[in-house]
Amino acid sequence: MKRVFLSLSLVFSILCTFACVDKSSNGTVAPTGDTIRVGVYGDTTGATSSFGVSTKNGIQLAFEEINAAGGVNGKKLEMIFEDDQGTPEKAKTVISKLINQDKVVAVLGEVASSNSLAAAPVAQEAKIPMITPSSTNPKVTEVGDYISRVCFIDPFQGSVMAKFAANTLKAKTAAVLGDNSSDYSKGLTQFFEEEFTKLGGKVITKQTYAQRDQDFKGQLTAMRGQNPDVIYIPGYYGEVAIIARQARELGMNMPLLGGDGWDSPELWKLGGEALNKAYISNHYSADNPAPEIQNFVKNYTAKFGAAPDSLAALAYDAAKVLADAIKRAGGTDSAKLKEAINATKNFAGVTGAITLDGSRNAVKPAVVLELTPAQSKFTFKETIYPEGMTPPATTAASNSNAMNSNTNMNSTAVTNTNAASNATR
Ligand code: PHE
Repeated sequence: MKRVFLSLSLVFSILCTFACVDKSSNGTVAPTGDTIRVGVYGDTTGATSSFGVSTKNGIQLAFEEINAAGGVNGKKLEMIFEDDQGTPEKAKTVISKLINQDKVVAVLGEVASSNSLAAAPVAQEAKIPMITPSSTNPKVTEVGDYISRVCFIDPFQGSVMAKFAANTLKAKTAAVLGDNSSDYSKGLTQFFEEEFTKLGGKVITKQTYAQRDQDFKGQLTAMRGQNPDVIYIPGYYGEVAIIARQARELGMNMPLLGGDGWDSPELWKLGGEALNKAYISNHYSADNPAPEIQNFVKNYTAKFGAAPDSLAALAYDAAKVLADAIKRAGGTDSAKLKEAINATKNFAGVTGAITLDGSRNAVKPAVVLELTPAQSKFTFKETIYPEGMTPPATTAASNSNAMNSNTNMNSTAVTNTNAASNATR
């Protein structure tokens, strides 16, 4: 049986070598005449596998919607997906394969900043536009003008949680437990501390771990002695859930704070009850009652059997931004496409209006979500806007839950304790 399978797959891959890739292509156009090939890479089998699965699903839904409506400039979008197992080395290998072998016109990915940082130079060098839906470390887009993103960056995300800790939770002291193998985590540690200090707080102890660690009791015990008001844990779901459990086991009941990296359906299974009294910053809330968002939540859930997390939402938006740019560029010439992507303004995404700034980063508000493990759910708390961005006016009549706008350090928090009836996109 096994042998039959092996030889079948051999036959298949030989067929594919001839049928799937048009070797005569010179790389400036999509090799298969009628489709526009887009490369997507992410982790579907490693330590952050739910990130890649959600990303792939979000893009698939967006492409299906676009193709059902006739495609882009008369052509259908085709996704070519590669699993990078969540490592920077593999990310670099698979993006090279997508660009050089599959001749994709653009690449969407990665999620984890360290993986995007490893892959981006390949795209930049080949002059193939890469849009990361969700990597938030500032260094990613600094690689060059072919690299952009549809999410906010971590100096903002770190400041959001520092503001929430200082202003909403009234914390005076914080401990930070960061992932030393992740650029994302190292950045957030720095940005959180900078803002928390500005607001009069003090980071009294900083400890680190590495991805795939299982035992955090040493670091936590060291922190316990200092009794911080809150612990900031800017990591990914696999480790942070275990950290939460071990902290509670050690009798540490202070609020735990995190970032977008906590967002995974796996979090609840791993962390359980220990996730009470925990809050994260994130890109969007599935609670948002705006009809465009609820429509997306409904379609995604019907197709994939689970509500879309922020990765799925950002990937969906990245795919739509790319399609819009191909349309505006009048084709897939890579220099023109890059210009069109970088000129994206006010694109109505499910994660908010997307406008890329001069550094090719999206400028968007963040949401603070409270973890509700009993319902395996992130519950909307407040929206925090970046400096200089004013919250859209809500019609007072349609919203009886008065919005509490408070201006702290030039940024605005809009709080609504009554679920998300004024969650902002
Ligand atoms: N922002 C994270 C990073 O840069 C990735 C991430 C985004 C994870 C959104 C979960 C949700 O590494």
